[in-house]
Formats: sequence, C-alpha cells, structure tokens
Amino acid sequence: MPPTILKIGGSVLTEKTDTPTPKPSAIKRCAAEIASYHPSADNPLILIHGAGSFGHPQAKKHDSPDGFTNSGIIEIHRSVTLLNELVINALIKNNVPAATVHPFGCTVAEDARISEMHTAPIALMLARGIVPVLHGDVVMDRTLGASIISGDQIVPYLAALFGASRIGFGTAVDGVIADGRVVPEITPGTFEAVRSHIHGSEGTDVTGGMLGKVRELLGIDIDSYIFSAVKPGMIAGFLSGEEPGTRITKKPQSISLRK
Ligand SMILES: Nc1ncnc2c1ncn2[C@@H]1O[C@H](COP(=O)(O)OP(=O)(O)O)[C@@H](O)[C@H]1O
Ligand SMILES: [Mg+2]
Repeated sequence: MPPTILKIGGSVLTEKTDTPTPKPSAIKRCAAEIASYHPSADNPLILIHGAGSFGHPQAKKHDSPDGFTNSGIIEIHRSVTLLNELVINALIKNNVPAATVHPFGCTVAEDARISEMHTAPIALMLARGIVPVLHGDVVMDRTLGASIISGDQIVPYLAALFGASRIGFGTAVDGVIADGRVVPEITPGTFEAVRSHIHGSEGTDVTGGMLGKVRELLGIDIDSYIFSAVKPGMIAGFLSGEEPGTRITKKPQSISLRK
C-alpha cells in the first residue's frame, strides 16, 4: 500500500518570527486532524513538518560564504528538534504512533540537494503502521560541508522513492494565489504563465517559500495539493480524499471539474 505524504509548513506550526515561537493550539489541532485519518499499515502516512521560527532564523544567522560552522550546524539542528518534539508529543497524545526520523542523522546532501537518505527504517515503520515524522533540517553536505534541506525538498524525494499515493502541503495560505484568487491547477505547461505571481515567503524562510514548493512539486509524477492548514478541517479533508487548494500535476485535468 503506497503511503500518503503530508507536509505541514513551519508557518502553520510556528509564528515565523526571529525567535522560536510555537503555536501550541495549531500543533494540537493538526495532530487531532491527523489522528482522525487513523494511520496504520493499511493507511500508511509519512509526515513532514517545516522548521518555521525554529530553523529559518538560525540558518540565516549562521549563513556565511564559508558555510556553516560546527557550532552553527549543531545550533540549527538542536533548534528544529525542539519543534519536532512538540509535534511528536501532540501526535502521541492523540494516539498516533508517531516516531521521529531526523534527516540530520540519515541524509547526505550534495550542493544543498539530497543525494542519499537511509530510508529502510521508514519502509519498515510504514509496514508496521508507525508514522515516520521528518522535518526540515541541516544535513551534512559533500560539497558545502552542511546545508539546509527543506521539508519541501524531502517530500518529493520520499514520494518518488515510495511511490506515494497522494501528496499534501498544508501551509498558511489557501494555495497558490494569483491576482487574489487561488490557482486551481499548475502543470509544467502553465507554470510560466503564473510564475511571475509566485514568490518567496513573507516570513523568515530560507528555502524558497511558495516558489520553492511549486518548483519541487512540478518535478514529480504524483499529483500534489497545496492548501491551507490554518483553516480547521482542511488537513482532515485532504487525508479523507478531498482535493483542496492548488493541484500541481503533470497530467492536466479539466479545470471545470475542480471544486
Ligand atoms: N503566489 C503566491 N501564492 C501564495 N503564497 C505566496 C505566493 N507568493 C509568495 N507566497 C508566500 O509564500 C508563503 C508560503 O511559503 P512558506 O512561508 O515557506 O510556507 P511554509 O511555512 O508552509 O513552508 C505564503 O505564506 C506567502 O507569504
Ligand atoms: Mg517554507
């Protein structure tokens, strides 16, 4: 059974300010919505969360032409693990069998792209119904020493590897917005036309904001949905089969059929 992959943005779980500031009520609500899906071996789920104010300001602070220092690497990693702990605790409280897989310990990058990840534990967890929880992280990098790997980049990597059935990106906005409206569908063919409307993040985000997300998702063959995870019920709706927000796809579908 191929897994569903859900990414929840750091902008949903934290205030994207310059100091680590969680949003406890949002973390709790997201966990409850995930619990309503009842992830199991028959309903496998991989969860990835962003770093928000537990990662981006720290990465920005330590950014230098010479790369990250060891103390910088450790500070960034330790900070994102604190947010991960809050997420895991909330999931466990909702009886979701969730376990952390820190990218730092199982991933190697080259030029800030994932080149290898030890995913055998993830496959075995899924087969047992455990929900692996990954997150944006700093990882060792063969070219740069260390680099930031966003949750947005981890999603397509795992989706291609595991042949994900569905991909959802819960974020702080209703989808990709152009001229004040949610764009229902983006394909490689229509991307250029909407490209000028898509930018980075309004918060502190070192990994490309909305443009980074769309670029990552256009590269894979599996349909994905970018939707609001700030609005209650949207995560649960996506997990139960709804197609919210903006669909990113290589197979154009009739837009008139979209809700
Ligand atoms: N065309 C667009 N439509 C929607 N959001 C956009 C667009 N262009 C830029 N953005 C910004 O990108 C943000 C989403 O990216 P980001 O902050 O990285 O979210 P996340 O925390 O989910 O990774 C939005 O909140 C918004 O500030
Ligand atoms: Mg982001």
